[in-house]
This record gives sequence, structure tokens and C-alpha cells, in this order.
Amino acid sequence: MNNLNVYEGENSVLDFLNPEKGMIPPLVEIPDALNPYRKDGVRIYAKLMNMTPLGNVKSFPAVNMLHNLKDQKDVHTIVENSSGNTVFSLAVVGRLLGISNTKAFVSHEVSSGKLQLLRVLGIQPIINEEPICPDPEDKESGIYKAKIKGKQKGWFNPGQYDNKFNPQSHYKWTGPQIWEQTHGDIDVFCTGLGTTGTMVGIGSYLKEKNPRIKNIGVVRQPNNPVPGVRTSNLLTQIAFNWQGIVDATEEVGTVDSFKFSLELCRHGLLVGPSSGFALNGLLQYLAKAKHKNIRCVFICADSPLPYLNEYFEYLDETAFPTIENANLLINKPNDTHQRVEKTNHLDWGIAVEDAFSKIYKEPKDRIWQLVKQNNEVHSTDKIVLLDVRTPEEYLDAHAPNSINIDHITALSKIKHLSESYKEKEVYVICRSGKRSDLVTTALREEGITAYNINGGMIEWSQKNYPRWRPEICNTSLK
Ligand SMILES: Cc1ncc(COP(=O)(O)O)c(C=O)c1O
Repeated sequence: MNNLNVYEGENSVLDFLNPEKGMIPPLVEIPDALNPYRKDGVRIYAKLMNMTPLGNVKSFPAVNMLHNLKDQKDVHTIVENSSGNTVFSLAVVGRLLGISNTKAFVSHEVSSGKLQLLRVLGIQPIINEEPICPDPEDKESGIYKAKIKGKQKGWFNPGQYDNKFNPQSHYKWTGPQIWEQTHGDIDVFCTGLGTTGTMVGIGSYLKEKNPRIKNIGVVRQPNNPVPGVRTSNLLTQIAFNWQGIVDATEEVGTVDSFKFSLELCRHGLLVGPSSGFALNGLLQYLAKAKHKNIRCVFICADSPLPYLNEYFEYLDETAFPTIENANLLINKPNDTHQRVEKTNHLDWGIAVEDAFSKIYKEPKDRIWQLVKQNNEVHSTDKIVLLDVRTPEEYLDAHAPNSINIDHITALSKIKHLSESYKEKEVYVICRSGKRSDLVTTALREEGITAYNINGGMIEWSQKNYPRWRPEICNTSLK
């Protein structure tokens, strides 16, 4: 091992990026304050893949997929579908190997920070409007489009979703690292499931070493965005046999993922939302399993920095210190934050449960039944449920009988809307409760009785309130 961490000569940077020649990402026990089971002898360790040279869990698969590419010298362009981290790593390693161009199919839901990061790195993003529930052969999916483009002469599509060198990288590098770092004393391994390469590679290595080790895979709750990881529906696109390696799955939502990430950051581990997601999934598992005197490892996939805007979108203002003298700023914080300071919106915020019972005439189970049977749902007279997300978000999943007008249009036509809602009670919903807050405020300013549904569709879905979804999306792990 290169103890002094010095890399020099012709291949200095390639050596630095090579997991066999570079430093091992640290394994750090989380502080007791974040571990409610420490008193039961449960030890929890974070494997900090954010501390690889490229700052994310995908640098190992990228190195492995490119080093195993035959006819590397004939390739001039890499094209990959990616939530950001894989293509970021592929571009850097590719350039060092003489492949000068990288293009990335990214979802239209990509975070602005990620998009900027790609462009800083010289990667050309191609935004793709992802189908609602794509499968690998869906011609509209980024996975499929990247595959087709990659067939051109001189192009290469690594295809992280079915390229065996993705999980293999974790099987030959990350798995053995964890085994050595714990001296083989490990009982539970936990990670988020995206391509599942991390779980398949590390999980299968650890099981071979000790079949009693439990592998816990964490998936997103429906309509709960967390960068890099998938819902159980979206996992149906994945070719790897993660089901054969995972002992249990846990579902985690957006708000908890960002909250746990914030806690880890504030306790000195600078890790992103999917790391908070994995820790939360592990704690959920431990709450049920009631193990004593065990050692657990979870994966921290990247840093919080590309997602700064999202922390402010998904967590409410109470999660952050206020800004003193904000009026002196040249670049003002965004509109939502200023409005929050000016007014107490809690007055017209309403919990999902309360909004539901006001909007519909029948109980939750009955409405679910009607939705599943494709029958008409009746809502209370004089009530309007206004969904102010974009038409694409609305199409993905929405509450029965909701009307969709995106928040920009709603704000620009607020007088007209208020005129037509004069005799009504309006319940406003968006993804997280921020856009709907702006519309609710504007409606209130026009004298309309309007309420903002707290937590938006994220909470609506998390609490499993009825929503229309295409049939194909109704698969579930449970
Ligand atoms: C931030 C982040 N977390 C988790 C994952 C999931 O890892 P895997 O694709 O190996 O399942 C990814 C994958 O890209 C990611 O970018």
C-alpha cells in the first residue's frame, strides 16, 4: 500500500484513481448520538465512498467498466444513462484513457447542482423525459436511448444496469475492503438500491465469506425523490439478481433521507441524501430485528454538495438557522424563504389526513378500492383540490379528482382563478409543499379560503393515500 499517498510519473492520476493503488475509503463508526441502539451493543459504521478520489460510489464501477473495455483505442465517445455519479466518473477516467467526449442521458428530474457538475466536468447532458414506469426495452427510456447511440462506430455505452463489471468492481474491491476493515466481524450490511451494483458486488462477497451476514437493501417510497436510488417499480428495470442477495428490504422517503443526511453532515460525516436514506433504512431494520451486540456497515455513496437546493426544497425552514440581515444580501435567497420569514403559513397549512377527510366523501380504503377498480370518485361539493405540479409530475401519480394547473400558470392567472373559486374551498398540493404554499398565499391574498397540504405528494404517497397510477406501476415488493 502507498502509505504516504503520493502518486507520480506518467500514470500518476490513473494510479490515484485505481482502487488497487490508491487509498482505501475510510470506515467510520457513527457517533452515539445518531445510534439509538448503541446501548444494546449495536455498532454502526459508515463506509465513506464519498472519500474516493472522485467523491462517489461509482468511481470503482467506472474504472472497472473502462479498464475492461476491449478496443479502447477506437472509442472517442462514451454515452451513458446516469443519475450523475456514474457518468461523472466515467468521463474523468475516460479522458485519462484518451476518450475525449462523454454524453449523459439524464432524467428531466435531475437536480440543478448535478447538472452544473456535469457541465463543469465537460460532460454533455442530454435531458430525457423518462417514461412513468420504464422497462429496459422501453424506447423512451434513457437506458434504451443510450444503448442505441452507443452502437455507433467509435461510441461506447457502458450500460451500468447490466454491465457485469459494475457489481464486479465492488466484489473485488469494496467488499474485501469492508471485510478487512471489520476484521471479518460484521453482521449486517446495508445500502441503497440504484443499479444494485453496490449491493450485488459487496453483498455477494460478504455472504461468501460468512453466509450469516444479513444484507439489507433500501428502496425509495413511491413519489419520494432521492437521488441515485430507485423505487421497487423502477427496480424492475434492473438485470442483476439483487433479489437473490438481499435478505430484507426497507422503504424510506425523501424527507427522512435528507434529514438523516443533514444529521450525519452536522456530526462530521459529509455525506449526501442517499447516505441518510441508507442509514434510515438500517435503523428501521434494526428496530424490527432487535439484535444485540452486532456490527453493521452502511454505504455512504456521495457528498451533499450537488444537492444543496434540494435540502431547502424538502426540509422546512425549522431545519436551518435563520439568516440575520438577509436584506443586505445582493443575491437574495429564493422567493419561498423570504415569504416564509414574512408570514406564518402554518395558519393555513393542513395535514394530509385532515385534508383528505375534508375533500372526499368516503374513507381512504373505499377510495383506494374505487381507484383500483377504475371507478369514479366523488369529492365534497364546493371543494377544489388543486395540484400545482408540472403536467409530467401530475401524470406520474395524482390524487383522485385533483385539477392540474402548474404553479407558474396558477400564479400568473391568480385573479382569474380566484374569480372561479369564489364560492369554493381550495386545497392546494405540489410535490413537497413549497410551490403550493406560494399559490395558497396568492389565493388567500385574493380572499379565497385556501389551504396548503403539508408535505405535498411526498407525504400523501408516504402515508399511502389513494392516487391514480398506470396499472403497470402497481407492482410492489411487499
Ligand atoms: C448517490 C447515489 N446513491 C446510491 C446509488 C446506488 O448505487 P448502485 O447503483 O450501485 O445501486 C447511486 C448510484 O448511482 C448514487 O449515485
